[in-house]
Amino acid sequence: MNGEHKCLAETNPFTPHPARIVRSYHLTKDVKFFQVRFVDMEEALRFDYKPGQFAMLSILGAGEAPFCISSTPSRPGLLEFCIRKMGTVTSALFELKENSFIGLRGPYGNGFPVEEMRDKDILIIEGGMGVAPLRSVLLYSLDNRDQFGRVAVLYGSKRPSEMIFSEEYFALKGRNDLECHLAVDADDTGKWTENIGVVTTLFRHLKKVDPENTFALVCGPPVMYKFVIKELIKLNIPKDQILMTLERRMKCGVGKCGHCAIDYIYTCLDGPVFNYWDVLHMRELI
Ligand SMILES: Cc1cc2nc3c(=O)[nH]c(=O)nc-3n(C[C@H](O)[C@H](O)[C@H](O)COP(=O)(O)OP(=O)(O)OC[C@H]3O[C@@H](n4cnc5c(N)ncnc54)[C@H](O)[C@@H]3O)c2cc1C
Ligand code: FES
Repeated sequence: MNGEHKCLAETNPFTPHPARIVRSYHLTKDVKFFQVRFVDMEEALRFDYKPGQFAMLSILGAGEAPFCISSTPSRPGLLEFCIRKMGTVTSALFELKENSFIGLRGPYGNGFPVEEMRDKDILIIEGGMGVAPLRSVLLYSLDNRDQFGRVAVLYGSKRPSEMIFSEEYFALKGRNDLECHLAVDADDTGKWTENIGVVTTLFRHLKKVDPENTFALVCGPPVMYKFVIKELIKLNIPKDQILMTLERRMKCGVGKCGHCAIDYIYTCLDGPVFNYWDVLHMRELI
């Protein structure tokens, strides 16, 4: 009887696993960084994920919500999340102190095709909260630098104070094995030393792109996609090598509830990473 019980619990995809907030701090006024570890250390080391996948975080009495994993599987043990305060679950998360318990289940979604991207150039274009999923693939490519070609990042945020992980990105500018261009829409500090303008203005700083050999990864606010894709098409990057991570309302994360369905696809299973062909066939995706 006991054995049966254990078996059911282990196979139930809705069971959250206990985890602890190891570290948390504000990245901007309304965005917080969370470093999380499963209570069971073996489970922490076993948890295998791909850059671009997401997890469901839950808090007793508040509920559960999906969040991209912002850390890289090349640094196992700790999981990192970058979370904007929106409503019930995220407000409850913001209140939790370090060492608090939360529930965690996953990883879910398809993630980026890192095997297919091997030996190719990577061009990352991100705006605002788009860093949450793309930081994972960026750190992954830097940790496995010899497995990828050129790596370039174009990152835009509204104002200097809203640039998430700004210290990390400024540190990247000092590396000679990647190109990193930063922009803000407007500088309200008078101290910003990088570019001013929307993220697409950064394309003119990019060194020559070899389109057939490049995967472009895009994530940001909905308005950004149209303009960024225009630039990528101008560069002749093939449509199946333009990858976007897109958010839909999700509840179960495992293809059971239908909340995230568009036509015949479940974005929690078939996404959140889609290529430009997918988007052309399902305009509702963006
Ligand atoms: C695959 C996936 C990955 C995500 N990754 C991240 C991440 O890394 N960091 C992060 O901060 N957020 C992420 N989100 C969004 C996050 O899940 C929502 O902000 C969260 O569910 C809000 O929960 P809440 O209970 O705090 O807000 P609620 O009380 O549920 O809602 C507050 C407000 O936010 C709106 N809202 C809630 N969910 C969404 C949504 N998915 N899209 C648009 N509006 C929404 C509601 O309509 C409402 O107006 C992701 C979502 C998905 C589907
Ligand atoms: S979130 Fe339930 S089916 Fe996708």
